[in-house]
Amino acid sequence: MIDVKKIRDDFPILKRKINGNQLIYFDNAATSQTPQVVIDKISNYYSNYNSNIHRGVHMLSQEATESYEKSRRIIQNQFNAKSSNEIIFTSGTTHGINIVASGYSNFLKKGDEIILSEMEHHSNIVPWQMLCEKTGAIIRIAKMDENGVLILDYFKSICSNKTKLVLVSHVSNALGTINPIESIISIAHSNNAVVLIDGAQAAPHIKIDLQKLDVDFYVVSGHKLMGPTGIGVLYGKESLLDMLPPYQGGGEMIEEVTFSKTTYAKLPHKFEAGTPNISGGIALGTAISYLNEIGFDSISKYEKSLLDYSTFKLLEIDGLKIYGESNQKTAVISFNIESIHPYDLGTILDKLGIAVRTGHHCAQPIMDHFNIPGTIRASFSFYNTKEEIDIMVEAIKRAKLMLA
Ligand code: ALA
Repeated sequence: MIDVKKIRDDFPILKRKINGNQLIYFDNAATSQTPQVVIDKISNYYSNYNSNIHRGVHMLSQEATESYEKSRRIIQNQFNAKSSNEIIFTSGTTHGINIVASGYSNFLKKGDEIILSEMEHHSNIVPWQMLCEKTGAIIRIAKMDENGVLILDYFKSICSNKTKLVLVSHVSNALGTINPIESIISIAHSNNAVVLIDGAQAAPHIKIDLQKLDVDFYVVSGHKLMGPTGIGVLYGKESLLDMLPPYQGGGEMIEEVTFSKTTYAKLPHKFEAGTPNISGGIALGTAISYLNEIGFDSISKYEKSLLDYSTFKLLEIDGLKIYGESNQKTAVISFNIESIHPYDLGTILDKLGIAVRTGHHCAQPIMDHFNIPGTIRASFSFYNTKEEIDIMVEAIKRAKLMLA
């Protein structure tokens, strides 16, 4: 059970007023808010043991290294990876995808195919287009239906022995659809294709078991997981990460450097060139421990109740259409109201202290599918309440009168 009143006390920002109104934060799919325990962890690092990792013999460096590596093990346990070598710290999901896309330019050739779903975020489209430009590989699109649900039979029909990579989001950032990644992975593997799942929108809401999924690569962002910005994780099966070349050269990722030849460090350091976001890595472990204290079962159940409630209340508004009507969704609602531009409604909601996202949500192909310029997106977290949803619904009704 979620004790939402107690949980809200953990998030100092939720006490903020915007234009004299109590902040209602419904932009969690863009960035989740940060609990005090995570803020304290960052502050404690800079106050007490700020130093570089894996380098110094001195006490501060040892403490920082220990905390950073401890966090890697927390993340390994959270996602049930076989080894901590498979957990690569990145700056976020985009960075993780780029490491893999760039690495595969060595292994793809003209005529090879890769499959993307129609509901990908731009960060899971553009790096693969760049890869195809370099290699001559071809992108095929796995289509979705009018409810924003991936058409599995269609996916099956385009997956063949030509398919080398399958790139799909676990949860759509713009629609909230939870994709059937177990089936996608199994169909892809039966065609010997490698699968990367963009888990940025799933990991904060659903417990992920990487070994059970048997997924090849899985990427997440810390700032959607109650952690800081500028930190994320790339998971990859050890054999695949071993096969991929380093993404960046520099300090930390080497074993030995001479002017004639450099040998690379072992995993995970091979992909962690330069001084990383140390406090971010440490604080991400704290954020994940915080989420586990609340419990993913409770989080999923509570957020589903917010989704059901808000769907019901919003559909009472005349002329409101929801995009993304899968029966497998996280607590994300994208909608438009007849003849009102999403930006205008978003601006009025902001004046009233309600933070939503408007626009194409970095997923223009989804907007093209529905033939719309964008949507208003309310995305909920376990610290949101039904009372806040009521306030948003009333505000939308008022704004509708003003804008009509
Ligand atoms: N990808 C983030 C979103 O959906 C930024 O808002």
